[in-house]
Amino acid sequence: KGDIRDQVFLESIFKEVYSLNNYFHAVIHLAGLKSVRESILKPKRYWDVNLNGSINLVNVMKKFNCYSIVFSSSATVYGIADKELLDENSIIKPCNVYGETKARIEKLLLNLCLENNNWRVCNLRYFNPAGAHYSGLIGEATCNNPNNLFPYLNLVAIGKKKFLRIYGNDWNTRDGTAIRDYLHVDDLAYGHLLIMQHILSDKFKIKNINIGTGKGTTVLELINTYQKVNNCEIPFEFVSRREGDVESLIADNQLLKKTLNWIPSKSLESMCLDSLNWQKNS
Ligand code: UFG
Repeated sequence: KGDIRDQVFLESIFKEVYSLNNYFHAVIHLAGLKSVRESILKPKRYWDVNLNGSINLVNVMKKFNCYSIVFSSSATVYGIADKELLDENSIIKPCNVYGETKARIEKLLLNLCLENNNWRVCNLRYFNPAGAHYSGLIGEATCNNPNNLFPYLNLVAIGKKKFLRIYGNDWNTRDGTAIRDYLHVDDLAYGHLLIMQHILSDKFKIKNINIGTGKGTTVLELINTYQKVNNCEIPFEFVSRREGDVESLIADNQLLKKTLNWIPSKSLESMCLDSLNWQKNS
């Protein structure tokens, strides 16, 4: 546990592994800030942690001859969708600072590959990860005022928050609320393993890959499912749109399905059940 911007700290991890006569084959880079709203309020912090942290990480990796990386990028790099399903060739035009930092890190990793043939990179573009391990033992530890939808739903369900604020009911969607492609964290984790195997067996040098189910759910649809499977009430109130949000983000996931045989196995119902189960256990 430490700060990705801290070079001495990062080097100490690599050194420790070396001292055990071993080495790191690859890195899964998940260390970043991820709130759209906060990124607009505190842009410098987002550039510093996300971009400078990534630069620090790749410098240390290079120093220790580790050149393989799976980077957790985001669907937010696409910005406003120009078609229903976003494939990897869709225009990169983020609408918020968070998305911009992710897009710049992708570019940095591409530049590294062009500069040095040793690098193997996957920019894995997450749509909306949700849920928790079904055991209730592993999940997202959130603060008292989470920005993301799932952790907030959990707090309303257990009575720590009185109601959920829905950001906008005037989007051009079937019920006026925004659409996202929610993906169970187990399916997300499995995707990383498959990609890591491909990278380490040298199947590609650099790829941008979407990871999502390909199905869109509105905020209201999600609340209905959450209430039904968890047998609880989620009071809500409509408020105005959140700055930096977009109407719809749904993955075209054919690349991951076809090239790596990845198939999402978990339903929206499982995400809702596992999410609350984790919250009750944590
Ligand atoms: N929303 C609400 N009320 C809330 C929170 C969210 O209505 O209290 C709405 C948002 O407006 C959006 C949808 O629910 O339409 C999802 O919002 P999230 O904040 O959960 O997620 P984002 O789509 O903003 O995505 C961000 C990052 C992703 C990251 C994801 C989950 O862009 O990279 O959070 O961690 F994967």
